[in-house]
Amino acid sequence: MCSKESEKIIIYNREKIDLKSEIKRLKLSEQDDAVNLCDLTNIIKKFEIWEKHFPQIKPYYAIKCNDESPVLKIMSSLGAGFDCASKNEIEKVLKIGVHPNRIIYANPMKSKSFIKHAKSKNVTDSTVDNEFEIYKMFKHYPTSNVILRFRSDAKKVLSPLGNKFGCDANENAAALILLTKSLNMNMIGLSFHVGSGCLELEAYERAISTGSSLYKFGKFIDHNLKVLDIGGGFPGDDDVMFANIAEIVNKALAKYFAGIDVDVIAEPGRFFVHTAYTNVSKVYAKREIRADDGKHEKTMYYVNDGVFGTFSCTLYEDLLIEAIHFKDEKSELFDSFIWGPTCDGCDKILESVRLPNLEEGDLLAFPNMGAYTVPIMNDFNGFDRPKTIFYLRSDYIHCIY
Ligand SMILES: Cc1ncc(COP(=O)(O)O)c(C=O)c1O
Repeated sequence: MCSKESEKIIIYNREKIDLKSEIKRLKLSEQDDAVNLCDLTNIIKKFEIWEKHFPQIKPYYAIKCNDESPVLKIMSSLGAGFDCASKNEIEKVLKIGVHPNRIIYANPMKSKSFIKHAKSKNVTDSTVDNEFEIYKMFKHYPTSNVILRFRSDAKKVLSPLGNKFGCDANENAAALILLTKSLNMNMIGLSFHVGSGCLELEAYERAISTGSSLYKFGKFIDHNLKVLDIGGGFPGDDDVMFANIAEIVNKALAKYFAGIDVDVIAEPGRFFVHTAYTNVSKVYAKREIRADDGKHEKTMYYVNDGVFGTFSCTLYEDLLIEAIHFKDEKSELFDSFIWGPTCDGCDKILESVRLPNLEEGDLLAFPNMGAYTVPIMNDFNGFDRPKTIFYLRSDYIHCIY
C-alpha cells in the first residue's frame, strides 16, 4: 500500500469494526507486513468525552503522541488546538490548514532557528522555563507570548517529564516572572505537565494550587495573564479514571481560580489516540522450549512487528499489552513469549502470556496501540514500518468535512 492509499478512510456501517472480517478482507495472514487499524470514530468519541467533562477547557492535541495526518485532520475538524514541539511539527499542522493561533509551541527549549521559524509563521504562543530561554526568546522573538512552565510532578506516572522541564515553582518561578516583566515581554500564562500517563490523580490539584499562586503574583506585577495550561497526562484507556481526574481538576479550578479571569487549556495526547489503534501482527516463526525432562515448557513466537515498530513505547513505558488470538476459545493455552522480528534481544513484545498453539501465518491483535507508537517507530534491521489503515463509522462522516 503506498502512503497516499494508506491515508484513505474506509467508511463502515456497523457498531464497530469487525476485526475478524477485516483481517480476512485485507488478507493479512498472507502479507509480510504487520498493520495498524485506526478507527477515527474512537477519537471523535474521546473528543465527546473530553467536552462532556471539560466543556470550558480547550484541548491542544500534543502531536508528538501520534502525528498521522488523518488523526491531525480529525482533531482539527473537531476544533482542537495543537501542541507542537518542533519546526516540523508546526509545519505538519500548518499544512493541514490550521491557523497559527491554534498552535502552542510547547517545547520550553528551542533552537534559535526554530524560534525564527515560529516567528515567520506567526506562531505566537510558546512555553519557556528558564532565564536562558527567556533571553533567547527576547532576542529572537520579543513580540511572542510566553507561558512559564513550572514543575509539578505526579508521584506515579508512566513517563515522567519533570526531571527535564519546568522551573521550580518555589525557587525560580517568581524571579522568571519578574524577568519577563523587566524585559517588557508579553507573558500570557502558566503551564505544567504532571507527567504522561498520570496515575496519581491528586497531582492535578497540587499543580493547580501552585499555578494559582504564581498566576496571582504575575497579575500583581501587572502581567496581562489569561492562560492556565494544565498539560497532559490523562489516561487513554480508562474513562472512569479520566472522569475522576476531571472532577478533581474542575473542583481545584473552582477553588483556586475563583473570581479570576482565566482561559484554561490543556495539552492531551494519549487520551485521544491510545484506544483508536489496533495492531495486527503475524506469527512467521516459532520455537518450542522444552524442560530437562523433555516436556514442552513454553513456545516462543516471532511476529512481524516489535519494539522498533509499533511497540516502541514499551521500551520506556510500563504499558500493559494485551494479545488477542483468533483460535477457538476453548483451545488449550500454553505459556508463550512474543518476540519482534529484529535480531535485537530487547525486541520482545510479551513474555509469560497464555496462548493456544499458534502456527506460521496465524495472526495476533494488540488493542490500544495508538499513543507514542507510530511517530517513534523506525526500520531498524531492514524491517518495514507497519502501515495504518483508517476507518470511520458512517454516522460520523460529518465530523471530517
Ligand atoms: C509538553 C507536553 N505536552 C503534552 C504532552 C502529552 O502528554 P500526554 O500524552 O500524557 O497527554 C507531552 C508528552 O510528552 C508533553 O511533553
